[in-house]
Amino acid sequence: MNPNKALWEKGDFTAIAAFMRESGEALVQSLGIAPPLRVLDLGCGDGTTALPLARLGADVTGIDIAQNLVAAGNQRAAEAGLRNLTFQEGDACSLQGVADDSFDMTLSVFGAMFAPKPFDVAKEMVRVTKPGGRIIMGNWIPNDPTFVSQVLKVSAAFTPPPPEGFISPMTWGVEANIVERFGQAGVPAEKISTVRDTFRFISPSKGPAEVIALFRQFYGPTMNAFEAAQKNGKEDELNSQLVELAKAQNQSADGGTSIAATFMRVTVQL
Ligand SMILES: C[S@@+](CC[C@H](N)C(=O)[O-])C[C@H]1O[C@@H](n2cnc3c(N)ncnc32)[C@H](O)[C@@H]1O
Repeated sequence: MNPNKALWEKGDFTAIAAFMRESGEALVQSLGIAPPLRVLDLGCGDGTTALPLARLGADVTGIDIAQNLVAAGNQRAAEAGLRNLTFQEGDACSLQGVADDSFDMTLSVFGAMFAPKPFDVAKEMVRVTKPGGRIIMGNWIPNDPTFVSQVLKVSAAFTPPPPEGFISPMTWGVEANIVERFGQAGVPAEKISTVRDTFRFISPSKGPAEVIALFRQFYGPTMNAFEAAQKNGKEDELNSQLVELAKAQNQSADGGTSIAATFMRVTVQL
């Protein structure tokens, strides 16, 4: 089994995505969507950005490596009555069956960054996007002090080292890597811009400890960390570190959760 696919099918990212809907919507609103527009949402999960894109009238294809998330996305699209949105399985490293120049925009919010071959990913995103089109990426930033980067850092500290040659997804949060990867795909540096932006994890009813419990139960990288920690008797230590982190960053005063997470927003103008 492809370990990249296994990681994301292991849990159920819909449980985490539920906290991310407002920021997904806001990000899409900021893109100036003006139909007719064909959009690829790559690593789309269950449609946090794909549904808002389709509601604005774009023709949206969501591609994700995880079969369970593709099914969840198609169910959400059907429930919302969105006929201009379909989800299908695929790998950002090799978008088989997707023709060159298919889309006006390719969007990947915390999605393609998790694919293991970043140079292939950049090449594929450029290949399937039309000349004159746009690529938008949202990428977590290594060593950033805010929530998700720290969850991933703490989780990694409790997980066995990755196999030799593994390229950390977090490298997509570094401008020099972004420029190098799109550069190899034929895009000059002046066509690439980056800016720091914020995603917010929001729950009106669940406090930070409950949010972490859901990461533990459903978020692949954190699930793996807990499995490894359990073998070393370090489960409680990992749990306390994550709960402390979430509590320290929580800005909700009424028992719920509102935690900001900084990310690198990338725009590539083709
Ligand atoms: C953190 S989730 C983000 C999902 C969604 N974009 C969102 O914002 O809710 C990462 C997503 O990337 C997908 N993914 C990981 N590796 C992938 C790959 N090689 N090709 C396509 N999708 C991938 C996962 O299955 C998962 O849905």
